Amino acid sequence: MYRSILLVLTVLTLYLPGAAVADAQSERIAALTRQVDSLNKKVAKLEKTVELLNAIRPTVTTLMPDVAERFHVMHYAGDAEDWALASHEMHGIEHLLGVIKDVDPEKGAMARGFLAADLEHVDAAIDSGNRDAFDKAITHMVGDCNACHTAVGSPFMQVTLNPPDTLSLRHSHKLMHSKLSAEHEHEHEHEEEHMEPASGG
Ligand code: HEC
Repeated sequence: MYRSILLVLTVLTLYLPGAAVADAQSERIAALTRQVDSLNKKVAKLEKTVELLNAIRPTVTTLMPDVAERFHVMHYAGDAEDWALASHEMHGIEHLLGVIKDVDPEKGAMARGFLAADLEHVDAAIDSGNRDAFDKAITHMVGDCNACHTAVGSPFMQVTLNPPDTLSLRHSHKLMHSKLSAEHEHEHEHEEEHMEPASGG
C-alpha cells in the first residue's frame, strides 16, 4: 500500500512539472511560428517595395537633365548679371552633384573631378560680379561637361552655350546621321517591361 502511494507520488512529482514545461514550450514555439510567418509576410512586402523603388530610383542619367537645366539658367543669369540667381543655380548644381555621388559613387567622383575647379571659378566670378570671368569660367565648364560625356561613352550628349530653340535644354543631343543599334532595341524591351499597365488599372 505504502509502496503504491509512494510510486504515485513519485510519478506525479516527476511528470507534472515536466508536462507544464512542455506545454509552455509548445506555446512559445507556436507564438514564435506565428511571429516568423508574420515577419516573412512583411519581408516579402518590403522586397516588393524595394524592387519597385529600385526600378524608379534616380540615376546619373535621370539626374543630369536637372543639372543641365540649372546650368543653362545659371548661364543666362550670369549673362544678365543676375548674380543672386546665378549663385542659387550654382548651389543647385553642387547639391545635385552630391546626390549623384550618393546614387553612383564612381560617376559622382568622376563628375566632381571634371567640374570642381570650374565651379570654383564660376563661384569666384559670381562673387566679384565679373562678367568676363564668368563667361570664361562657364565656357570652360561646358567643355568639361562634354569631356565627361565623351569619357562615359556618350559623346553625342553635347551641352552647348547656344542651344537651338528647337531642342530641349534638359535632353541635349547633337543631331547627326545615325543607325539604330541592336543594343538600343534591347534597352527598349526593358522599358516596355516597366510600362506594362498595372493590373486592374
Ligand atoms: C560623370 C561625368 C559627367 C559630368 C561631369 C557631366 N555629365 Fe552629363 N551625363 C553624364 C552621364 C553618365 C549621362 C548619361 C549618359 C547616358 O545615359 O548615356 C549624362 C547625360 C547628360 C544629359 C542628357 C540627359 C538626357 O536625358 O538626355 C545632359 C543634358 C547632361 N548630361 C548635362 C550635363 C551638364 C550641363 C554638365 C555640366 C554642368 C554635365 N552633364 C556634366 C555624365 C556627366
